[in-house]
Amino acid sequence: MSRNDQWWQTGIIYQIYPRSYQDSNGDGVGDLPGIEARLDYVRSLNAGAVWLSPIYPSPMRDFGYDVADYCAVHPLFGTLTDFDRLLAEVHGRGMKLILDLVPNHTSDEHPWFIESRASRDNPKRDWYIWRDPAPDGGPPNNWLSYFGGPAWTFDQQTGQYYMHQFVTQQPELNYRHPAVVAALRDSMRFWLDRGVDGFRVDVIWLMMKDPLFRDEPPNPTWDGVNPHNSLKHIYTANLPEVHGLIRQMREVLDDYADRMMVGEIYMPNEDLVTYYGGPAGNECHLPFNFQLIHAPWDAAAVRRMVDGYEAILPVGAWPNWVLGNHDQHRLATRIGPAQARVASMLLLTLRGTPTCYYGDEIGMENVAIPPELVQDPPALNQPEIAHLVGRDPERTPMQWDASPNAGFARAGVRTWLPVADDYVTRNVAVQDQDPTSMLSFYRALTALRQATPALTVGAYRSVDAGASDVFAYVRNEATTRFLVVLNFGGEARRLDLSAVAEQAEVVLSTRMTPVPPTALAALDLRPNEGLVLRLPDSED
Ligand code: NOJ
Repeated sequence: MSRNDQWWQTGIIYQIYPRSYQDSNGDGVGDLPGIEARLDYVRSLNAGAVWLSPIYPSPMRDFGYDVADYCAVHPLFGTLTDFDRLLAEVHGRGMKLILDLVPNHTSDEHPWFIESRASRDNPKRDWYIWRDPAPDGGPPNNWLSYFGGPAWTFDQQTGQYYMHQFVTQQPELNYRHPAVVAALRDSMRFWLDRGVDGFRVDVIWLMMKDPLFRDEPPNPTWDGVNPHNSLKHIYTANLPEVHGLIRQMREVLDDYADRMMVGEIYMPNEDLVTYYGGPAGNECHLPFNFQLIHAPWDAAAVRRMVDGYEAILPVGAWPNWVLGNHDQHRLATRIGPAQARVASMLLLTLRGTPTCYYGDEIGMENVAIPPELVQDPPALNQPEIAHLVGRDPERTPMQWDASPNAGFARAGVRTWLPVADDYVTRNVAVQDQDPTSMLSFYRALTALRQATPALTVGAYRSVDAGASDVFAYVRNEATTRFLVVLNFGGEARRLDLSAVAEQAEVVLSTRMTPVPPTALAALDLRPNEGLVLRLPDSED
């Protein structure tokens, strides 16, 4: 039997952005007891694991991705006791819990950095990346921050620059120093000992930098929009040495049973797949595959993408797919509500672990944030491209019901980001009652996936559908076979798929209406419709 039966292979990962899921104490920010109160809902989505964006103490300059203590919980979210209870409740429902781990940088308020910046001869000086000014007094080289401006900030007190690729209050740790690696491994053990099942590792591909601090070359294909893209990041990203570091992290996980890590990596496939760790498979269990987020929404392009990724996966490497997260504009806004159903059917019927972003299951859309309420640093730092780089629109409170504040916080509370205007009609309570809603569709789809080995661990093969806006593929396991047919367009299509089989039974339509058994020589697809069909069992 192949080893494709582990929880992080067969299960669905559901990402919760804790600030926005459920406020239990009236401060307008979500918290751990709030999440605990919603776990039955999470389970109703047939999720196998919950990933929490950071819950650590933090000055919140980057909303928790600036960590001031790796081994504690921010009082905004609760206490370690709340955390332990949440973990037990997650486990009690047969689910796993994945924490965000943010090793590349800390907050400038982390005690390590406070020590490091105290003097040039402080024992922790080399825990961070400090450099002398350039001869003209400017930054040591041309490296840039993702959030606008240089990747260097001058520290008056000690007369050197420190490096940061995000906000200035996120100094980067120096993983060429063994004590820093040891400290990271200790932080991991702190949570693993408590029973945490795994980590989503923030910007894992950025953790090593060029030891010579060379200037990065210009990017000849830059479109002139986002300054960070004006350079080719060959000295700040994807350095060969990062693999050794990841292996040291993996060793920690492997000392425990059934733990995993999924690495955040925005890289082309050829580079992405190296993060599995070669034949030994001793790096990330899953390097996040974000291709669908950036895909042109076109059946042929998506087919090429899926086939290409399947073809390049190393032997033994397990695939994964993502449609949205807290850094990307909402799926339903990117491709429209009708296609959001088609995309969800794709995500949840492809081979590999799906990661779902909270709220996508009810079709939440981007929320336009009035300028005076904008919170996100890349948007505040770069107002001219705020609409592209700002992430507040996809981080708004979960829409539970039609009560004031959408059931996210009690009435009268000022929520940290505004609740979407459409919450009265688009919410969990309303969709719960509607058998054709996005939520009902999501539950039916996830239930079907989880009950069907062909759809979780089965093989994948794309088939020619004979229409340029349709993507079709077969999933099979042992003798069981399923056909998925996705109409990426707004036109009805009649397809001849008789080469696959003569007859099939439609088990799910994105429309959530019954479809009679159908001859595959004349399969009718309605506009924006996706179908999952059960094929007759094969004989072998
Ligand atoms: C990636 C995280 O997903 C993003 O939200 C954060 O701002 C940066 N890393 C910095 O930690």
